[in-house]
Amino acid sequence: MKQTITLPGSPARISRLVAGENLLGELPGALEAHAGKRTPYWIWDKRVWEIWNEKLGPLGWPGTNTGRVLLFGALEQRKRLSSVEQLAQQLVEAGADRRSVLVAVGGGVTGDVVGFLASIYMRGIPHYQIPTTLLAQVDSSIGGKTGVDLPEGKNLLGTFHQPDLIWMSPEFLETLAEEDFRQGMAEVIKTALIGDEVLWKYLETHAEQIKGRDREALLRIVSACCVIKAKVVEADEKESGYRRVLNLGHTVGHAVERLSDYRIPHGDAVAMGLVVATKLSVEMACIDQGVLSKLEQLCVVYGLPTRIPSHFGPAALLEALKTDKKWEAGTLHFILPVRIGEVMDYDRLDLRALNRVMQSLR
Ligand SMILES: NC(=O)c1ccc[n+]([C@@H]2O[C@H](COP(=O)([O-])OP(=O)(O)OC[C@H]3O[C@@H](n4cnc5c(N)ncnc54)[C@H](O)[C@@H]3O)[C@@H](O)[C@H]2O)c1
Ligand SMILES: [Zn+2]
Repeated sequence: MKQTITLPGSPARISRLVAGENLLGELPGALEAHAGKRTPYWIWDKRVWEIWNEKLGPLGWPGTNTGRVLLFGALEQRKRLSSVEQLAQQLVEAGADRRSVLVAVGGGVTGDVVGFLASIYMRGIPHYQIPTTLLAQVDSSIGGKTGVDLPEGKNLLGTFHQPDLIWMSPEFLETLAEEDFRQGMAEVIKTALIGDEVLWKYLETHAEQIKGRDREALLRIVSACCVIKAKVVEADEKESGYRRVLNLGHTVGHAVERLSDYRIPHGDAVAMGLVVATKLSVEMACIDQGVLSKLEQLCVVYGLPTRIPSHFGPAALLEALKTDKKWEAGTLHFILPVRIGEVMDYDRLDLRALNRVMQSLR
């Protein structure tokens, strides 16, 4: 099975997303063909390179001996301007110019850094994304948001720069650590709750296959998430409004991450945020109580938490929420599910209801 999805971009440079099984052998040729006269420069997450290069070399993927493959030790702490500068210097030394194209191979950290670098290198060159984590395949590689962190906060520097090509193969997910897989599943559940009831049912009925990393099951969930993210991004590329629906679970999730000094991983925090948003929606009589039980069950099945640790008091959480970007002119934009597969952007949030929900979830 192979699927091609067209993403937003200027008419001359339309992003293409290719998802499929057994595509690893096809990729080098297809990528060269797409690049045309441009010379590809590959930037790999070093860890992914170490795991995969022996398998991919015989399939025609370029090696470090070509002088066009750079390795980047991808860690959130290295998602910084200093890494962008170092990689840019290495690219200059390697001969990359305005007629080059960058290829990012790795998770969200690599994708965000390389996308950012491509958007400013010699005033901007195209790039391709080959996401290798579940989170990167279902979320970060799609939509054109790039960026790096500042000591003051995550993703504070960045650009919108659509990749011309996104190529995803479920095979990569077979070597992903259990913990990274689990974290990515929170985004999959989020995406299903936002826009796909069929995907939700699939998550309920195919947990064993998904957790067992069955390729067909992985391709099924990755493709479904890509379709939804692509649709949302298409409707609102620069996040002026509708794209906010993708923040379901993230308002509370980000507050929990910040309060924990980022010791609670993103996916866990998003799972807690999804439960709060759904409970709030129940409290406001916008969604059936049964959805909340289904969500909690799904989180348990995929090993995700459904409760906020009791030492984070509701008052501290509400305070942390007020520093959120979505807090505009004293009101908080909150995305609430209204049924499985549909959400609404609610901007007159009743803080007392939120407080009650937080109290009940400790
Ligand atoms: N641009 C966006 O729209 C967007 C959206 C969501 C998240 N993000 C960003 O994404 C980042 C998180 O992404 P992530 O979770 O992919 O993190 P990551 O890139 O750090 O990858 C997680 C870990 O998996 C390893 N890894 C990657 N692929 C592997 C594979 N196939 N096999 C074995 N190990 C592998 C990496 O080396 C790393 O240790 C954050 O910085 C976040 O801000 C961006
Ligand atoms: Zn997220």
